[in-house]
Amino acid sequence: MASWPSARCTRPSVCTSPMDKAKSTKSTPSNVSRRRAPHCRPLSRPQRARQTTRMAHVFGYEIGSAAQHPAPSRMYGGAPKTSRPTWRGGRDLAAGVARELVATHGSPLFVYRPEVVEARVGALRAALGELPLTLRYAVKANPCPALLQALRRDADRGLDGLDVASAGELRAGIQAGFGGDSIALAGPGKSADEHRAALDAGAAISVESLLELERLLGLVGKRDGKRPKPRLRLRVNPREMIHAYGLRTGGGASPFGIDEELLPQAAAMLATSDGGKSVEFEGIHVHAGSQCFSAAALARSFTQTLAIARRFEQRAGLRCRVVNLGGGLGHGSWYGANAIDLDDLGARLRRRWAEHLGALGEAAPPLPLERERRLELEPGRWLVGPAGSYLCRVLDVKVSRGQRFVVVDGGMHQLFAATGVYGPTPARPPLLRTLGDETDGRELERCAVVGRLCTPLDRLAADVQLPEPRVGDLLRALISLPDRAARRMRNHGVGARRAPAGSKEPTSNTRCDFADQRGDGR
Ligand SMILES: Cc1ncc(COP(=O)(O)O)c(C=O)c1O
Repeated sequence: MASWPSARCTRPSVCTSPMDKAKSTKSTPSNVSRRRAPHCRPLSRPQRARQTTRMAHVFGYEIGSAAQHPAPSRMYGGAPKTSRPTWRGGRDLAAGVARELVATHGSPLFVYRPEVVEARVGALRAALGELPLTLRYAVKANPCPALLQALRRDADRGLDGLDVASAGELRAGIQAGFGGDSIALAGPGKSADEHRAALDAGAAISVESLLELERLLGLVGKRDGKRPKPRLRLRVNPREMIHAYGLRTGGGASPFGIDEELLPQAAAMLATSDGGKSVEFEGIHVHAGSQCFSAAALARSFTQTLAIARRFEQRAGLRCRVVNLGGGLGHGSWYGANAIDLDDLGARLRRRWAEHLGALGEAAPPLPLERERRLELEPGRWLVGPAGSYLCRVLDVKVSRGQRFVVVDGGMHQLFAATGVYGPTPARPPLLRTLGDETDGRELERCAVVGRLCTPLDRLAADVQLPEPRVGDLLRALISLPDRAARRMRNHGVGARRAPAGSKEPTSNTRCDFADQRGDGR
């Protein structure tokens, strides 16, 4: 009979990884390479302070003096236990609330906190003050109906409307109480039904190709002339690529928007077709990418958009009352993600706007023309990202050949869709923490957090430190958005899925199950 291979470790409770052994003997064994765990390398004091500042921002900590210098080994355990930072303005999801929600709705569970979005709207408004700015929320980042309803309630405090990518999202916005005229529809491959829905609602439409323009103008030409004029923008794919976007949708060849050099053709179509006379041309729209963490790079991209609008206006003779700058403000749900300097962005954008008006000859008072002109911004991830948590429960903790696995009741099919990770295990450690004070006093342990899918790819985190994980612990991951799920839902018209009955206010939440993620509406 074949013998079992000799097990390196037969008693899980005392089983130690090479790293653990190194700790217990206080020496560095030769087989433990520091390169295997670069994030566990002791950091210098300034490095630690920088890292903490970044983490603090992402997590929403208030940075107190104690939190500036957490023990380096605590960096991956969520809140450094030595300093227990407070959550800014009490906006974090309290462990008690999380437990209550899981008790009511089960786990895994997505939980969203609208007040966090509200705070972001306020921060953006404050930083971009004085600019004639229309602020919309890009619904694709999270179409949860309860969240949209909460945003609608806050609309008077700074959010002007929605950017939608489908008839489903348009319906969701209207059902949440947004006026059709506060909504703008953009996205490639719109169907005739989507065009009709937007026209009926009075929403603005961003046209993404010359063929779409031809179809839309044809549709408009056949409509009852007594209705309000359809509002139309041209979405442009700029010539220059901005490399600072983590995800580029503009610059070079792109399915999004009309190539900048084709704008003269678009202008000619608007000028000559019957439909062209029946529409109200509003302006230019560029969304060149997402996940940009540099205020300077964003400002460069926005400057490029302003220049495109100006050239179009001067050459085509069509006034660009609206310049839609798109979204693109980066939000990271992983350790070490940078935060955008909003004040810097505001200062740069104000300068560029003044230059834009100056170049158009409209800088000096009287100002009515300036007042007529508006900038639009439509962030998605940045507005809702920090509001979302993914809660999952530890089902099993096992040690396999020296490696500790924490098995949770969620999985990559849910979390990755919600963090915008396009691929297997995120290269960047996700922000993951154990909820609850009962973890006080537990030693941090390195572990892999895995889901229940029968694939070795189902690792939510390959190597993190958590306070000695135990069955029943509730883990919380910060998410940025259920982006992929939303995109898939788009084509199936299920952007308006209902939150389950019993959603709690003010925390709106929606159960995430596999059917949701398939996006087929079942
Ligand atoms: C047209 C448009 N506007 C806004 C956004 C929101 O982008 P972000 O999440 O980067 O702010 C997107 C995202 O894909 C988009 O396609």
